[in-house]
Amino acid sequence: MGNYDQEINRRRTFAIISHPDAGKTTLTEKFLLYGGAINLAGSVKGKATARHAVSDWMEIEKERGISVTSSVLQFEYDGFCINILDTPGHQDFSEDTYRTLMAADSAVMVIDASKGVEAQTRKLFKVCVMRKIPIFTFINKMDRDANDTFELLDEIEKELGIATCPVNWPIGSGKKFKGVYDRDRQCVITYSDTEKGTREGETMEISVNDRDSLVSVIGEDAADKLIDEIELLDGASAEFDLDMVQAGDLTPVFFGSALTNFGVEFFLQHFLKMTTTPLSRKADIGMISPTENEFSAFVFKIQANMNKAHRDRIAFMRICSGKYEASMEVKHVQGGKVMRLSQPQQIMASERKILEEAYAGDIIGVFDPGIFSIGDTLCMPKEQFQYEGIPTFAPEHFARVRQVDTMKRKQFVKGITQIAQEGAIQIFQEFNTGMEEIIVGVVGVLQFDVLKYRLENEYNVEIKLENLPYEHIRWIENKEIDLNKLVGTSDMKKIKDLKGNPLLLFINAWSVGMTLDRNKGLILSEFGRD
Ligand code: G4P
Repeated sequence: MGNYDQEINRRRTFAIISHPDAGKTTLTEKFLLYGGAINLAGSVKGKATARHAVSDWMEIEKERGISVTSSVLQFEYDGFCINILDTPGHQDFSEDTYRTLMAADSAVMVIDASKGVEAQTRKLFKVCVMRKIPIFTFINKMDRDANDTFELLDEIEKELGIATCPVNWPIGSGKKFKGVYDRDRQCVITYSDTEKGTREGETMEISVNDRDSLVSVIGEDAADKLIDEIELLDGASAEFDLDMVQAGDLTPVFFGSALTNFGVEFFLQHFLKMTTTPLSRKADIGMISPTENEFSAFVFKIQANMNKAHRDRIAFMRICSGKYEASMEVKHVQGGKVMRLSQPQQIMASERKILEEAYAGDIIGVFDPGIFSIGDTLCMPKEQFQYEGIPTFAPEHFARVRQVDTMKRKQFVKGITQIAQEGAIQIFQEFNTGMEEIIVGVVGVLQFDVLKYRLENEYNVEIKLENLPYEHIRWIENKEIDLNKLVGTSDMKKIKDLKGNPLLLFINAWSVGMTLDRNKGLILSEFGRD
């Protein structure tokens, strides 16, 4: 105990969140480049052909050229051991995307400077806020025409409800982008474009107090504007406060251009200093500290059929404390069994590598013969505790499932239950109508196709999906509420989950508020907890 402090304390585990196309992949590539994990930008994924090579676990993935799985990247930089959790976007957005955030200790939010806060960022951000993890903002694509800087910050503060503190400040944008002002060192770092290079380009540093030099490099107009903006900024913005950052109340903001290699290493260096070492985690016996406790982990994601030939499942777990060694005996608390984890692997973007050891903060994937569920705890055989469960996140698309061949009811129920257990879909039933029909809810519409495909291919059951118009689901927090007396809106539908817990579906967002108004004392939640 306590022997692994050094290894654990140099770990930084974070997720990158963004709306598709904001530049998450490009930024990740540059990080890997600086860490020496890859030699050439563009080799992580990005290009359609490379994406195909990443995995072949499902035909849909190949057909559409997208990655359904989210992966973990580990690399070294400046003495740190960094774990980046990728959160898939586009149509492959699923509950896994949310769950990935449960395994991270902080989040990097990438925003396109010409678009501001977009839908997907908002959704993921809510989960970060719920967990109160630090959030770092990288405003990307400054080499393109950007929105006004003050407006961008205002938008983040208003839309996401978090204070911002710019660490650097952009000078112009697009063709007029001259560089950034480093507020801490009070100097200007001039823009350089090294899109093809493997390191940041040559820059000049000019003190903002040396007006003549400043004017000669960035021009009079830009210099005057910058000096004005700095004055305004120093007067108006929140002061940097590391405690507030670590409590998730203040987001440090950085400006740069991932594509042209500008401001990325600056970001990485500052981020690594400000972000947190692996955090303690809440368990039923209290907080478990990463360095003071022996090995423990929790399962945050289960992925089926990565290898078509074996139809296996991989359970991804986040190590929360201590050290994991291959062949070590651990206890699966929910299953009540002591076992050896089978084929522990580190899942990289393009390859899997068998692990000998891993520490708190790391993510490992282990072969799952069907015993793990999301949220399960693993610990040392002599210990007995459970980590706090992972909430169920609100699906936004619903469909009624109909079997084409009703004779295959048993297979159908088995298949859909197993798939739901992996967490890709959620299944519900009508409330008190006695109907056995199943309603399926998903976070991203691609999961409907995945469900249909898997039921056909793995369970030999053909289904038809009839889309339902609901978009908002709410869990009822106060269980004593009598559902029969609930005064709802005309677009409200009552359903129940497989444990019999009642839930409400709505077509319109305002109906949620209306229902709350009409039923005093009713507490609704966007996250479900057991
Ligand atoms: P994502 O993972 O968040 O979805 O975004 P990704 O990095 O794939 O970037 C989306 C597009 O934006 C890519 O262009 C990428 O080259 C571009 N991009 C990323 N960062 C910057 C930046 O700082 N400045 C500019 N100007 N563009 C940036 P694409 O043409 O859609 O893809 P590709 O054909 O280059 O792969």
